[in-house]
Amino acid sequence: MKPALILDHTDIIREILSPLLSWYKGQEKTRQLPWREEPTPYHTWISEIMLQQTRAIAVIPYYHRFLEEFPTITALANADDEVLMKLWQGLGYYSRARNLKKAAQVIVQEHQGQLPQDKKQLLALPGIGRYTANAIASIAFGMPLPAIDGNVLRVIARVITCREDIMSARTRTAFEQLLAPHYPTGDDAGALNQAFMDLGATICLPHGTPHCAHCPLAQLCLAKETGTQQDFPQKAATKAKKREAHTILLLKLGNRIALHKRPNQGLLAGLWEFPNLTGQVDQSKVNEYLKQHHLTATRMEELPPAKHVFSHVTWQLTGWKIQLAASALLVTETTDAFTWATPEEIASQFSIPTAFAHYISYIK
Ligand code: ADE
Repeated sequence: MKPALILDHTDIIREILSPLLSWYKGQEKTRQLPWREEPTPYHTWISEIMLQQTRAIAVIPYYHRFLEEFPTITALANADDEVLMKLWQGLGYYSRARNLKKAAQVIVQEHQGQLPQDKKQLLALPGIGRYTANAIASIAFGMPLPAIDGNVLRVIARVITCREDIMSARTRTAFEQLLAPHYPTGDDAGALNQAFMDLGATICLPHGTPHCAHCPLAQLCLAKETGTQQDFPQKAATKAKKREAHTILLLKLGNRIALHKRPNQGLLAGLWEFPNLTGQVDQSKVNEYLKQHHLTATRMEELPPAKHVFSHVTWQLTGWKIQLAASALLVTETTDAFTWATPEEIASQFSIPTAFAHYISYIK
């Protein structure tokens, strides 16, 4: 194992926190986000989970709908799984929603329905890792803990021109240790973490030219001073994503469409999908599939290709829209293979992940 990374530049770190905090507090430049209006522990927790891997602007409507349906931790602990998954539809990384419910149950059973104020106990809850524990502890409980996400890593790497790989846990730990001794307690702890996030999201951008002319840290930033902003942060090359091909089948019987529930384990576990075949299959293979399921097509139409990128795999999708003949054998009762739903039921009750939703517009 490599020895712990000790970073220099404590002097710069000490100096950046105050201008950063002042910048954040200058209302005009900060982002008005709903979870900042009433940062209760529950609100902070829900927002921080939703904000993992997801842009703030995309989270806002989900955040409102979620709290309307589950206004309390107890309501979340008792959530109906289908309702929970429907509320999460389109946000991705669905295990986040499942972990929220599991954690809510632990909180009700073991913590009298209140999020624990202890970092170790927060970390023990499903779905809460180092970043989220520190974000909740600082924003909701005023603890002096840096929440190191990609934004903080990028800002700090530029400010101190750190050439370490920001994807490594060692660098993350070193950044946390560099920042922690200088963190304030109380409201400023959460404000500082959110200031870093805002700076990373609006000024110290990951792609393109950062807006250094508007940056409160420009005078202190070594990357700005040396014109090397684009050299930072350093990231080890990521592995190429696996590619998979799938053929989506929109099986229509009258005004009902066939759905299938995915297995309870694995990618998109327990969510609803349109029946599909592995690989990019041609019409004869589709006909074979129909025969196996005692279905007969009256019309078949090939649909345009689509692509969906997950964190570790890319799906190349093709699709067929198939009108089925109503036969005596075919009833729209739920079987292991199919659940038949109208477009209205699909819209209101079934959680269809975005990967399949590419084809949803063709069901009408
Ligand atoms: N990203 C993660 N947490 C955030 C927060 N509290 N505000 C804005 N963006 C965030």
